[in-house]
Amino acid sequence: MIIKSLEQLNSLSKKIGDKLEESDCIFLIGEIGVGKTTFTRFLINNLQKKEGTKTTDVLSPTFNLLYEYDLKNYKIMHYDLYRLKEEKELNNLGIFKENQKAIKIIEWPNFIKISKFEKLEIHLDYAKNENNRNLRLMGTGKWKNFE
Ligand SMILES: Nc1ncnc2c1ncn2[C@@H]1O[C@H](COP(=O)(O)OP(=O)(O)OP(=O)(O)O)[C@@H](O)[C@H]1O
Ligand SMILES: [Mg+2]
Repeated sequence: MIIKSLEQLNSLSKKIGDKLEESDCIFLIGEIGVGKTTFTRFLINNLQKKEGTKTTDVLSPTFNLLYEYDLKNYKIMHYDLYRLKEEKELNNLGIFKENQKAIKIIEWPNFIKISKFEKLEIHLDYAKNENNRNLRLMGTGKWKNFE
């Protein structure tokens, strides 16, 4: 689908947020500056609004690799793995090791090879108009036919 504005991206993030449950996983795939963090910010702020807590800043975890958000009933872990150089470093992060109930949102998930688990992939591409984006959803498990 074509995303023609930030408002439209925000509505999509709401729709996805309504189906999100603890321990779900979202991969955000696309070039630098295409809108992965912007989508994540909308998603987290909408989830905060939905549960009636204050919205917080949602900054890019470019240098920290991870920012965590504590919502009432679950945690959200927002990763940006752009700086990872090799697969080994992934293991140190333990993204999928911990059995914790957390929603995981991952920008630049290139090193993550496990293909069996359930996830929603959001592919973002630049379009001709500078404020438009082509967006594709590819889901497995409960996300399979989500659109
Ligand atoms: N339709 C749109 N969807 C998403 N972002 C848009 C759109 N139109 C304009 N933008 C702008 O594009 C920029 C996207 O930046 P953002 O930090 O979200 O990208 P990113 O994919 O996370 O980059 P990085 O790979 O560096 O983490 C923002 O400044 C946002 O306002
Ligand atoms: Mg980003």
